[in-house]
Amino acid sequence: MQHLTIVEHPLVQHKLTLMREKHTSTAVFRQLLREISQLLAYEVTRELPMTTKHIETPLRSMDAPVLAGRKLALISILRAGNGLLDGMLELIPSARVGFVGLYRDEATLKPVQYYFKVPEELGERMVIAVDPMLATGNSSVAAIDLLKEAGAHDIRFLCLLAAPEGVARMNEAHPDVPIVTAALDSHLNEKGYIVPGLGDAGDRMFGTK
Ligand code: URA
Repeated sequence: MQHLTIVEHPLVQHKLTLMREKHTSTAVFRQLLREISQLLAYEVTRELPMTTKHIETPLRSMDAPVLAGRKLALISILRAGNGLLDGMLELIPSARVGFVGLYRDEATLKPVQYYFKVPEELGERMVIAVDPMLATGNSSVAAIDLLKEAGAHDIRFLCLLAAPEGVARMNEAHPDVPIVTAALDSHLNEKGYIVPGLGDAGDRMFGTK
């Protein structure tokens, strides 16, 4: 998998445009995020290890492909990560789930940790960390640092929108972690928001503003 994959599928791009529009309601935003997360999940799980299983169809026996190894781990970077998590779990219901609680100090834009709970045997699983917005990259890098400390080494990062600054920061700190996103936007503004972006993803999905 390349370091940065932009999912250019028409359904992803169309849904993303609807999500960007400022008049899109909380309910519609949340529904679109659920739908788009499933399309992105399809891309980010492309390299899941496979094996075969001997089965009987109504016509004959065959060796058919099935997923191999330990169940993958989805790690939601709170709180906005939960918006991507819900849809992904519909597609991969047996995935194990972890949470990393980081909030962004609005003065320094640096991440502050307040929660960390992840599945066991992280080192034996494909780990997909999810957060809709890769902005400065500070939270994402800090979350991946924590996941590596907990034993993870096969990690992917899934987001909805990325800024060049965040991609560069992740690239520098974690060059082994492929990033999958729906779009790479222009830049960050002085408050650390992605431009043109979609605003505060957490506020838009939870209706907190
Ligand atoms: N977090 C958001 O929710 N939006 C941005 O544009 C940047 C960080």
